[in-house]
Amino acid sequence: MTLNILEIAYLIASLTFVIGLKMLSHPESARKGNLIAAVGMLIAVIATITIYQPFDNSKTLNYGLIALGLVVGTIIGTMMAKKVKMTAMPQMVSFFNGMGGACAALIAVIEYQNHNTSASLGFDGEFLVMLLGLIIGSVSFSGSLIAYGKLEGKIKDFVLPMNQVVNMLMLATILGLTVYQMLGNDSTPLFYGLLAISLIYGVLFVMPIGGADMPVVISLLNSFTGVAAAFGGFLYSNKAMLTGGILVGSAGTILTILMCKAMNRSLTNVLLGAFGGNASGGPKGEAGDQTVREISITDTAVLLSYSQQVVIVPGYGLAVAQAQHICHELEKLLEEKGVTVNYAIHPVAGRMPGHMNVLLAEADVPYERLQEMEEINPKLASTDVVVVIGANDVVNPAAKNDSSSPIYGMPILEVDQAKNVIILKRGMSAGYAGIENELFFYPKTRMLFGDAKDSLQKLTSEVKEV
Ligand code: TAP
Repeated sequence: MTLNILEIAYLIASLTFVIGLKMLSHPESARKGNLIAAVGMLIAVIATITIYQPFDNSKTLNYGLIALGLVVGTIIGTMMAKKVKMTAMPQMVSFFNGMGGACAALIAVIEYQNHNTSASLGFDGEFLVMLLGLIIGSVSFSGSLIAYGKLEGKIKDFVLPMNQVVNMLMLATILGLTVYQMLGNDSTPLFYGLLAISLIYGVLFVMPIGGADMPVVISLLNSFTGVAAAFGGFLYSNKAMLTGGILVGSAGTILTILMCKAMNRSLTNVLLGAFGGNASGGPKGEAGDQTVREISITDTAVLLSYSQQVVIVPGYGLAVAQAQHICHELEKLLEEKGVTVNYAIHPVAGRMPGHMNVLLAEADVPYERLQEMEEINPKLASTDVVVVIGANDVVNPAAKNDSSSPIYGMPILEVDQAKNVIILKRGMSAGYAGIENELFFYPKTRMLFGDAKDSLQKLTSEVKEV
């Protein structure tokens, strides 16, 4: 009977995960979806603590320690989530993802103490699941912490001499040790050796990947944690953990594929390419023109007010400046003047998947105004003015024109096709990929220097006067 209640609780939790995930795919329902899945997780946790009995009846649950873990985790998690700035979300996601990986690896470590390999004859499936959880969880833990450090700007891209060869050798060692242990040669030093090599492999695997390839790595690590957690669910016959893990694993894998497509790269290319951070695609303005042309607030206001079609390209700088509300204000003013305004959304603009969608939804920008790259690119040639706000890499023509550029091949928003391009940024600094942008030197481009929020506030007042 008790087992049934536990199974029902896990089923409810699993359902909330599926419903929550579905709702997360739209900005309007995302908040509620997150809450629904969180309630499901709470149900699973309460049910596990109150109903679950360890298989080995001689052991009892240590309620004091469980309560301590819950309290400390809740306090730290709440504080971090409340404090984090929108622009630092990817780092936090990476950090939490790493913690998930660590949990999965720790489950394997703890269960290894209870596991008697020699007692089992033939193929020991449980031991294999344990080893896989240990390896994938550890790689995800150390890899995510390196990704966290890189996104925080605390760790620089670093490529060991023969990094890929070293990585391949480590991967082969991990595989060899797993097979060797599975063949009945299990020993505690070998088990912990596998843990250590997996942790080092996680570091070396993420270290050389940089620049524009980070989104792919982050979603890949996410899927690793999901798979590792699913192995934990398998070990404990915990269906909520199993479903949750599989959902994270598959969602992470789908996102990895989508990110690769958005960057026009294969996964192997991202993992073995080891580029993106330090490379320098220098500015190559049309006919070597290195002149930067500025535009005043007044001229921008006039140009925008007398246009028919305006496209706004939001980027990471819009999020940094927290200028989404004033941007929406400007858009409404222009619409009142009969100008059609749309937003062009690049799949990796900002620092996390859907960053621009979330940012603009926060400012109540109608969802219909947001147009994906494939949809808006063909319309750019007939656009009077493109206003690029704090975006850089996602509009860099080097991705199309310069085969030596680290972002070569990445699909971009082809804003250079428009009749006029106005770029709002503070100076001539590079974007995330660390490369300069030849678009800034094109004759049709005008730079409006300054903090995006400040410039947009002045622009809004000026447009009211036109
Ligand atoms: P970036 O290429 O990073 O460029 C942002 C620009 O915003 C900078 O050049 C900066 O120039 C400007 N800026 C910063 N603060 C500003 C402010 N307060 N006011 C005005 N401008 C400001 O941004 P993007 O075009 O959105 O491209 C995203 C990049 O991040 C891509 O390379 C992508 O691969 C990478 N990435 C994306 C993700 C995901 S999943 N979206 C995750 C990790 C990495 P100034 O300093 O001169 O102002």
